[in-house]
Amino acid sequence: MRIQTGNTLGTFPDPIHSWPEEYAHRTTLLWIIVSNAPMNRLAVLTSGGDAAGMNAAIRAIVRAGVDRNIQIFGVHGGFTGLIAGEMVPLGPRDVGGIIGKGGTFLGTTRCARIRSADGQASAIQQLRQRAIEGLIVIGGNGSQSAAYELSERGLAVVGVASTIDNDLVGADPSIGFVTAVDVALEAIDRLRVTASSHNRVFLVEVMGRDSGHIALAASIAGGAEACVVPERQMPPETVAQEIRAAYARGKSHAIVVVAEGAAYNAEHLAGYFREHVGRLGFELRVTTLGHVQRGGSPGLFDRMLATELGVAAIDSIAARRTGVLLGRLNGSVVATPLAKVAHARKAPPAAQLELAALLAK
Ligand code: F6P
Repeated sequence: MRIQTGNTLGTFPDPIHSWPEEYAHRTTLLWIIVSNAPMNRLAVLTSGGDAAGMNAAIRAIVRAGVDRNIQIFGVHGGFTGLIAGEMVPLGPRDVGGIIGKGGTFLGTTRCARIRSADGQASAIQQLRQRAIEGLIVIGGNGSQSAAYELSERGLAVVGVASTIDNDLVGADPSIGFVTAVDVALEAIDRLRVTASSHNRVFLVEVMGRDSGHIALAASIAGGAEACVVPERQMPPETVAQEIRAAYARGKSHAIVVVAEGAAYNAEHLAGYFREHVGRLGFELRVTTLGHVQRGGSPGLFDRMLATELGVAAIDSIAARRTGVLLGRLNGSVVATPLAKVAHARKAPPAAQLELAALLAK
């Protein structure tokens, strides 16, 4: 059966697959009536890598829900918790004091099962059993791809753009990116001090499994001498040339920011430089920032962004504008169809790659 939910044309599987045969026609009829009624019960979950600002988004969703007479249920442990039915009603006091905390108090997982038809059907059934009419998914690429699959199955879903990687289509920046880059910048500023004292080269590896947004921003704002990202290959000899050129220009140090997802990542580069130390003639140290970047407390920008998107998510789903990702683009909250977001990746603008190279001089 095909039904129209908001702007999503989806399939409603429950009466056919999950409910006793004799109730199927009644459930279908009930669903058609209910689909035009106001939403009363919604669930929210956080999924994938945590990001500073996720808590602020949950808080905004719960408090905006109270204002619009919608009971919000918090799902523990992302899609894994949803499939297991681990959710509790949340009131305004449950989300008190969390706006400034990093991470997510609901917990998060990377759930492989939500990619399967069986996992998706179980997740939807858990919600329907509790008469929960829609789901808000706070997360990045993998999470929004799962959100899309659920919306294709007829669930009213709205995504909230949240990943430190900032590679979601439909959001720039996503929740957590700015705080993560600020953490990286603090580390780079400190490393430059010791690099200068010792006349050394530092490789700083930042997160970004498939994308170089964090590396580029940290490199431009941190004044790095070179930046290595997945979107632009930079073989070890080219990195060595950049470092030599920096010393030739009179610099007393060199900072190379490397995205973890680059073909030649920090480990690879460090190995190469160790092997050729005699010929290259400079000492090199590696700092891998890793998860330190994800653990920061959200700064002003991420608190405001998460709050704005959380409230917008409630309004969007209540108005049955579903099957969309909410993100901020060019200063406004924009709803992008999940179909365009799922399995896609936003690359850094070419101009930013040029800027990083230009300012390294
Ligand atoms: O959330 C995105 C991200 O931080 C990537 O930058 C990184 O590669 C990945 O998550 C790490 O995942 P995990 O925390 O599961 O090791």
